[in-house]
Amino acid sequence: MPSVKKTKKLIIVGDSAFAEIAKEYFEVDTEYAVVGFAVESAFLKRTELGGVAICALEEMEKHWPVKDHEVFVAVTYVQVNRLRARLVEEVKRKGYKLASYISPRAFVWRNVEFGEHCFVFEDNTIQPFVKIGNNVILWSGNHIGHHSRIEDHCFISSHVCISGFCNIGPRTFLGVNSTIANNVAIGADNWIGMGASIVRNTSSNRLFKGKQSELADVSTLDFFKVDK
Ligand SMILES: CC(C)(COP(=O)(O)OP(=O)(O)OC[C@H]1O[C@@H](n2cnc3c(N)ncnc32)[C@H](O)[C@@H]1OP(=O)(O)O)[C@@H](O)C(=O)NCCC(=O)NCCS
Repeated sequence: MPSVKKTKKLIIVGDSAFAEIAKEYFEVDTEYAVVGFAVESAFLKRTELGGVAICALEEMEKHWPVKDHEVFVAVTYVQVNRLRARLVEEVKRKGYKLASYISPRAFVWRNVEFGEHCFVFEDNTIQPFVKIGNNVILWSGNHIGHHSRIEDHCFISSHVCISGFCNIGPRTFLGVNSTIANNVAIGADNWIGMGASIVRNTSSNRLFKGKQSELADVSTLDFFKVDK
């Protein structure tokens, strides 16, 4: 793949696995060069990640001036998405412009609308008339059905199916392989566990746990009559 010319400088907030992945994606697919990581000083445990310096978020503007750096906050769904929301506000208050990443390997229909500071992984299908708010993460392989709206600070994990005309309330987490029927409104601060199937509207602050499959009373090798 030909490399993209680097015309912008990016700071990533966080030093977790998501921060490491975000660095990869921004560097391979976009015009951003990742020049630093910033972590709140209470969590500053190392000085570099992948050859790039990690500094305290409290003094990041001393190392990387606001006027020529942009920021992406690579934090997942900690505190039901409130940590990412707080850190985004903090870097905005400092005056930084926020960056977004939309994978060139995602299918995004031409009239889909995005707010600021979003991250869309590969293999998402985002259909016509979808509206996505600010600070939304779409991990890989989701289906976002036509005319649906995802409000601010949501985290949609992987292989989630959101049908048409749905509304996903702010800060809601949708677990892997969860399914939302068409015309359903999910409230704010919901946790929709992995594999959950939601067919009616939910109020705010509702938790749907993901279920563990039933353990059979026979072992694998006995069931398939394989010699041990
Ligand atoms: C909701 C979910 C997190 C629950 O996980 P779980 O391991 O089945 O939860 P448990 O029932 O063991 O309970 C977890 C904790 O909540 C506590 N808890 C359970 N019921 C509770 C209740 N009614 N009130 C208060 N606390 C409760 C448990 O005591 C436990 O506490 P501990 O960790 O201190 O021991 C899980 O089902 C889920 O949806 N995971 C998402 C997976 C996913 O999609 N990942 C994608 C990442 S990209």
